[in-house]
Amino acid sequence: MATGKVYIIGAGPGDWELITVKGLKKIKEADVILYDFLVSKDLLRFIKKNAQIICCGKSDGLHIFEQPEINRLLLKFAKQGKAVARLKGGDPLVFSRGIEEALYLKSKGIDFEIIQGITSAFSAPESFGIPLTRKGKYSSVAVLTGRKSNRDKLDAPGCDTLVYLMAVSNIENVVNVVLASGKKKNTPCAFVERGTAKTERIITGSLGNIVRRSKEYKVSSPAVFIVGKVVSYGKKIYGHKFK
Ligand SMILES: C[S@@+](CC[C@H](N)C(=O)[O-])C[C@H]1O[C@@H](n2cnc3c(N)ncnc32)[C@H](O)[C@@H]1O
Repeated sequence: MATGKVYIIGAGPGDWELITVKGLKKIKEADVILYDFLVSKDLLRFIKKNAQIICCGKSDGLHIFEQPEINRLLLKFAKQGKAVARLKGGDPLVFSRGIEEALYLKSKGIDFEIIQGITSAFSAPESFGIPLTRKGKYSSVAVLTGRKSNRDKLDAPGCDTLVYLMAVSNIENVVNVVLASGKKKNTPCAFVERGTAKTERIITGSLGNIVRRSKEYKVSSPAVFIVGKVVSYGKKIYGHKFK
């Protein structure tokens, strides 16, 4: 039997329609679909009859399968000659283990393709009219993790805009690191929760009060944390939705 192929697909953020045409085509053709928690379940309506669906989990602290097990499943199905859709939230290589899966498949001589997706880092802020840059004013942006598995200190580079993923449960530390990097307490910031989904929310504040406000509004994961003056543009466009 000929070896199959694995498609490592970015499913986009909360709104399922934000997947690429190419990604959706591969979902429709796949024999097996392995998906992560953050993938919109609406996309599973498009799978072909008799396709096998496997939830791989992976949300904060909950892993149905550990990464080596997911790698082995991808290998097993590809060796059976199947077309495998590996669906991941947002973009498959942005704070995601898509690259580990690609490297593993490469080492095993399995054919694969990476299909890009819209990352939450850009789309969640944009969903509330927040641009990450503005010509002539704010020209640098960094996308960072708000949580590190080892004891390494978090990063806060000197960019105009900082976007932290996975920051909800560690927001006190994130804010302290950003303040220590030289940003002022009155710097605007915002949490966008479930960006682009029907239930999306934005909670704004300043570095001085966002910890309190995020607790007051019970911000939960998935959410991105944006720091910088760009937050004010969103307020001008979609101010009625801002908390
Ligand atoms: C493991 S990372 C995966 C990122 C994903 N690969 C991407 O490109 O969006 C998970 C984090 O992404 C962010 N995230 C994912 N989807 C989101 C959404 N719809 N709204 C806000 N944040 C989201 C959250 O910070 C969440 O904790």
